[in-house]
Amino acid sequence: MRTQLLAAGAAAVACVANGASISEASQPRHLFSRQSLSNATTSNTTLPTSPPFYPSPWMDGSGDWGDAYEKAKAFVSQLTLVEKVNLTTGVGWESEACVGNTGSIPRLGFQSLCMQDSPLGIRFSDYNSAFPAGGTVAASWDRQVWYDRGYAMGAEHNGKGVDVQLGPVVGPLGRAPAGGRGWEGFSPDPFLSGQAVAQTVQGMQKAGIIACTKHYILNEQEHFRQAGESAGFGFNITESLSSNIDDKTLHELYLWPFADAVRAGTGSVMCSYNQINNSYGCQNSHLMNGILKGELGFQGFVMSDWAAQHAGVATTLAGLDMTMPGDTAFDSGVAYWGGNLTLSVINGTVPEWRLDDMVTRIMAAYYYVGRDAPGNVKPVNFNSWSRDEYGYQHAIAKAGYGKINERVDVRRHHAKIIRDHAVRSTVLLKNVDGALPLSGKEKMTAVFGDDAGDNTAGPNGCSDHGCDNGTLAMGWGSGTASFPYLISPLTAIQNEIAKVEGRVEWVTNGWDLTSAQALAAQAEVAITFVNADSGEGFISVDGNIGDRNNLTLWKNGDALIRNVSAVCNNTIVVVHSVGPVILDDYAKNPNITAIVWAGLPGEQTGNAIADILYGRVNPGGKLPFTIGASREDYGADVMYEPNNDADAPQDQFSEGIFIDYRAFDRKNIQPTYEFGFGLSYTTFEYSHIQVAAHTVPAYTPNEGMTAPAMQYGNSSINIEDWQYPADFAPINYYIYPWINGSDAKTASGDANYGTEGSFPAGSQDGSAQPKVRAGGAPGGNPRLYDVVYTIVALVKNTGSIPGDEVAQLYVNLGGLQDAPKILRGFDRITIAPGATVQFTVQLCRRDVMNWNTAIQDWEITADPKKVYVGGSSRNLPLSADLPSLSYA
Ligand code: NOJ
Repeated sequence: MRTQLLAAGAAAVACVANGASISEASQPRHLFSRQSLSNATTSNTTLPTSPPFYPSPWMDGSGDWGDAYEKAKAFVSQLTLVEKVNLTTGVGWESEACVGNTGSIPRLGFQSLCMQDSPLGIRFSDYNSAFPAGGTVAASWDRQVWYDRGYAMGAEHNGKGVDVQLGPVVGPLGRAPAGGRGWEGFSPDPFLSGQAVAQTVQGMQKAGIIACTKHYILNEQEHFRQAGESAGFGFNITESLSSNIDDKTLHELYLWPFADAVRAGTGSVMCSYNQINNSYGCQNSHLMNGILKGELGFQGFVMSDWAAQHAGVATTLAGLDMTMPGDTAFDSGVAYWGGNLTLSVINGTVPEWRLDDMVTRIMAAYYYVGRDAPGNVKPVNFNSWSRDEYGYQHAIAKAGYGKINERVDVRRHHAKIIRDHAVRSTVLLKNVDGALPLSGKEKMTAVFGDDAGDNTAGPNGCSDHGCDNGTLAMGWGSGTASFPYLISPLTAIQNEIAKVEGRVEWVTNGWDLTSAQALAAQAEVAITFVNADSGEGFISVDGNIGDRNNLTLWKNGDALIRNVSAVCNNTIVVVHSVGPVILDDYAKNPNITAIVWAGLPGEQTGNAIADILYGRVNPGGKLPFTIGASREDYGADVMYEPNNDADAPQDQFSEGIFIDYRAFDRKNIQPTYEFGFGLSYTTFEYSHIQVAAHTVPAYTPNEGMTAPAMQYGNSSINIEDWQYPADFAPINYYIYPWINGSDAKTASGDANYGTEGSFPAGSQDGSAQPKVRAGGAPGGNPRLYDVVYTIVALVKNTGSIPGDEVAQLYVNLGGLQDAPKILRGFDRITIAPGATVQFTVQLCRRDVMNWNTAIQDWEITADPKKVYVGGSSRNLPLSADLPSLSYA
């Protein structure tokens, strides 16, 4: 009959056949020692490993998940074994309308769950909006912007019938500025990222869809994230790169925003392609069972990244709850789960309580966001694989011909907020003698750069936006959306000048320096648009395999700026980029009178930059990363060459917590523009800092035992009952939950069935378990979030026009290993000219704690602690000591 259960890679699925895929501890050790924390090729040493954590914690409805948990239990109790399995397993790549779909439960009228990219809008769709990227709205430092953007994106996904929006992103955090997908996330600062992700998750889920916070964790670069993909680019590796990290850095830096996402209620988390300490993200029991579900008390479900599942039973026991897109490799027609998961429950290799927990978590997320509200769930009304109105519902099988795109317009009023958000995220980096804003009455305006104009192939002309033609308003890869239109800067500037019947001319070909100079020499103002692009590792653009090869400008941007500014002493540079670019020469060049960083602003990019350039809005954005004078100044970089022969490349995160501004501060390197920096058309002054310590309950570790694991319903687990139905006509490539034959060994397709391997210790144990010390509720121990200090300061607008100031607070934790300062508070405040307002920060206990690896918990060290307040990470005129706390 069907061959789908006979996957080559499925050997470890139905029984405990392959020790290497079951227990992290038994994975091969290779060439690195913990001591030699360098990325240089070395040999004969031991690789870092990831400790085991079993059993997989079962959800308990803690935090505000109680109601959702009860509803989920009631729902799951009605399900049969295969119906449960169907909710955990994708139906295969391109088998249904969305980038990922689970099976359905026809008996209960429960439709397949639809997972759709992306973190900035709907991918592979139409009549949807293209929002500014995460790394761009981070520059707004505005919680309302993040919430509203999340809500608007969630509402659009909901309108298309999507259940799970595959975003937001906080991994990559942004360890290396050249990392390809940093722009999908928010900021290399964990606090800023954490605040942004929390608001985004809450906004999205308020709109009735499930957020999927991704990629968990340490997915910090594109090179080597998957062996197969790397082979396509000529690299010979057999396993994904391993991000090797210590426990303290993990907690204090990369895990931080995930904790905020969990605390904000994210319904799902996507595990990542890479390995972490030589255990794959989607079968790393320490990170999924121990930290995410145990310590952070995550109540939702863990979904694999697409084809990031590398084993069956091993991933199930390590805490994976849903596999996407469901097939082992895209369009292979075979699966680690599906029928193999059914079989593994029947033969006892996966305890029934574990499957029940997986499905309960999925359904709890569904209820938690209110997907069961009347009218919320609707049939998916678009198809990812074709923009045609009619086509195949099951694209890969070419089956189910009919209407596949209803062309439902879900955009509402979003163009307005997109423009507003893009404006609020624009950062003014340089402005000499009021060069900006422009009056619009300049005698002659010249515009330069490919980045000013349109992509001649159209706004969606390159597949997954994998090119850099015309103005750059999003990066490339799965983290993209289709543009409904794209207002280029040139169009917007022309509209501006046409209004006053002025004169504007342009040269958009960045290589035509002769024409550019000839025009620039006549101009009263020369606005030069430049960019730098990056994206996901399955696409290479101009030799950049996802990650950027350098931090310089694309499309001859540097030569263009130099040539234009050589002949025009009022050159304004506008940068659209995925992250930091080298601007040091331009910062110092007197002919360059203004520099603006506008990030990746989405569909309204031109209108938004015109609002800033022509002064309709006073800029208030601040840099969410550091712009250094050279890439070497940053604490870490991308690994471009494998360093472990054909085995998994070993990427040592030996810089610890010292990335971005923490690296510059530690080494006392002067950046071009520091983290948190941004100018306004007005000016601000800080004064009168005051600190109040609160009397709070002492921090108490989470203690005691959990309840035992539960099983829901009493479905048969008899193999005879779960055979492919006799009259069933399977769709090609589709992944089903049934079993093919009643002899388990034959059905498994595993020659070693029942003869090899062992379970990781404790993995089958459903009895009450000791609680994780730093845990207790979603986000970790609730005592971490007690407000322990209130700090206030005064901020005065000393100029003559209203403006927004992002006031910032940094903490020094006092220890020798601590960063000189870390961001722990901010607020974007609108201040009238001459007015003074109070900036208030409430510090939580976690904000002043360090992770203690010995006790495996947070602690307030005895080191003296200080706070700093001001307008950027290097402009902090106010400071105060933090008094010690007294406990109630
Ligand atoms: C792989 C990407 O890493 C992930 O972010 C995305 O959601 C999936 N592909 C689905 O497209």
